[in-house]
Amino acid sequence: MKALVLTGGSGTRLRPFSYSMPKQLIPLANTPVLVHVLCNIRDLGVTEIGVVFNDRVADIEAVVGDGSGFGARVTCLRQDAPRGLAHTVAVARDFLGNDDFVMYLGDIMLPNGIRAAGEEFAGRHPAAQVLVQRVADPRGFGVVELGPDGEVVGLLEKPREPRSDLALCGVYFFTAAVHEAVAAIRPGPRGELEITDAVEWLLNSGAEVRAHTYDGYWKDTGRVEDVLECNRHLLDAERRSVAGQVDEASELIGEVVVEPGARIVASGSPGRSSSAPTRWSSTADSVRTPGWAATAW
Ligand code: TTP
Repeated sequence: MKALVLTGGSGTRLRPFSYSMPKQLIPLANTPVLVHVLCNIRDLGVTEIGVVFNDRVADIEAVVGDGSGFGARVTCLRQDAPRGLAHTVAVARDFLGNDDFVMYLGDIMLPNGIRAAGEEFAGRHPAAQVLVQRVADPRGFGVVELGPDGEVVGLLEKPREPRSDLALCGVYFFTAAVHEAVAAIRPGPRGELEITDAVEWLLNSGAEVRAHTYDGYWKDTGRVEDVLECNRHLLDAERRSVAGQVDEASELIGEVVVEPGARIVASGSPGRSSSAPTRWSSTADSVRTPGWAATAW
């Protein structure tokens, strides 16, 4: 199996932050969203990863390199403009060959991982499997309708009158059958090739499409409030771990993380002008220096 990670898009909802960096590189708990994504993919045992970008490949490459830093091989694939999620599959056609693949939006957070979903796909091997979660108001999402046996019977992008409360989370498992679907569909009202249309095409052709209901934490980091909420969630889950150096005059209070290589030096230590002791407290003060760049993913 291969993976296709999407880091293109316009990021309009995350301006002004998305002016200075691709939104997939925004750090959450000091680690770029994209690195969280790649770690989840690696945990599936998938090492061949295609990363779709529009115009900021240097930023993306500076973070993921060739993938060897976390045991994978990354191939960057250029999409000339954000022409839709299904369009990225067409862009990646040669890279994907006839292999199964997991398509993963590069701006979503699933800190509990997607192993169970991957195992379900491998075991039953439908033409496609989508990840869904129950939401209070599904109108802003792609919505999936299930039949009596849990099979997908319909999908609709942002319906006014949703027929279920199951929202698409942004992870899709596909067999090579999807390529015929992508070649057959046309751009929708947004002018984009919609992945929901490709999945619908598979359904109409009689192919089996399944849904895996995801119970873990899920956050689309497309808006500033989502980024802040998700960061808080990740920091709340941190447990104290001190692998760096902390001098005798410093005091760590609460769930503080000091990563290998970090040095905590109190302001009263020799060479510092103030004599006040340094107090590092609570997750908000977590010290993760030198951060993800030096972390073994
Ligand atoms: P979205 O968040 O739906 O779209 P966007 O990035 O354009 O954001 P906004 O609505 O705020 O303008 O895209 C989901 C993910 O897919 C995101 O990581 C970007 C990526 N993507 C592509 O790589 N190519 C595309 O053609 C599109 C539409 C999205």
